[in-house]
Amino acid sequence: MKAAVVRSFDAPPRYEAFELPALGEDDVRVDVLAAGLHPRVKSGASGSHYADERVLPMIPGIDAVGRLPDGQLVYCVVHDTPYGTMAEQVVADRRRCVPLPDGTDPAAIAAAMNPAMSSWLALKLRAPIQQGQSVFVLGATGNAGRMALQVAKLLGAGRVIGAGREVSRLESAGADEVVSLVGDPDSVAAALGKAAGECDIVLDYVWGKPAADAMVALLTARRDRSRALDWVQIGSVAGPTLELPSAALRSTNLRIMGSGQGSVSTRAIVGELPQLAAEIVAGRIPVDVLRVPLAEVERAWNAPVPAGRRVVFTP
Ligand SMILES: NC(=O)c1ccc[n+]([C@@H]2O[C@H](COP(=O)([O-])OP(=O)(O)OC[C@H]3O[C@@H](n4cnc5c(N)ncnc54)[C@H](OP(=O)(O)O)[C@@H]3O)[C@@H](O)[C@H]2O)c1
Repeated sequence: MKAAVVRSFDAPPRYEAFELPALGEDDVRVDVLAAGLHPRVKSGASGSHYADERVLPMIPGIDAVGRLPDGQLVYCVVHDTPYGTMAEQVVADRRRCVPLPDGTDPAAIAAAMNPAMSSWLALKLRAPIQQGQSVFVLGATGNAGRMALQVAKLLGAGRVIGAGREVSRLESAGADEVVSLVGDPDSVAAALGKAAGECDIVLDYVWGKPAADAMVALLTARRDRSRALDWVQIGSVAGPTLELPSAALRSTNLRIMGSGQGSVSTRAIVGELPQLAAEIVAGRIPVDVLRVPLAEVERAWNAPVPAGRRVVFTP
């Protein structure tokens, strides 16, 4: 079969012939219809993802929509093998295949599941949201952040606030209030404190200095600092580390946790997939897809993509 194959962590994958491994006891061969180029896929293919074993050669791709041998349309996850989904076929564990209704657009599901899952898992499993709570999405302008605004509402948030750099993109994204992270730091901190100081849960896609500044801004503005603030670390587009004054933890009830592969078990992730897929199929989570033939993977891998769109490779 043909696949996107990574032979060096310094170069984009090339479209070439590749042999699939033999099937294990619970495995099934899936004919791939669409596989998304998520940031996690790119970090895996560059050897920099925290959960990967850095094996070469490898086929990138952690999830896909495809057909089982009996014709059933499924969404499957295969995020812990070097034989990923950017191929004509993938070997998947049957228990990680979620049936989809016929008529579903494979590319839309392939584009949306990974970014939408980030907030879904955080709000269901890490900081379980209670009806009417207020959610602040830090870094709301990317695919995952924009979807988080909708996911929070779907899961019961009473108020949703979004912050990011290019906030003009958020006008139609469903936030009750939007804060720009661009500008004089004191003004940004004041705006964050005013808009999100009383929130219950933060979904943080940025980390780094903007997240440290936002933590201090929110906690300083909070009327009752002993009221819990659950800060869920999901992405790190602004940096892998942050520096936080110790007093921010001593003098407040800030609870920092992460959500991702490892902090949530694969079993728990898979358990949430049917309900999330149903929400996407129903069109309740917006998705903007850029379809690219898999044969063009080498050219498209690092090509610029319009903001908010997700590249999906179709074999
Ligand atoms: N843990 C999980 O379960 C999980 C699941 C999915 C994704 N993620 C992570 O979540 C992050 C976002 O994923 P995605 O799919 O949304 O990627 P994406 O669509 O590429 O969006 C990333 C966005 O980050 C924004 N950004 C970049 N640098 C920034 C900065 N310094 N400050 C503020 N915003 C910045 C950019 O928007 P602007 O140009 O508007 O600033 C960009 O649109 C990634 O780190 C990804 O690995 C985690």
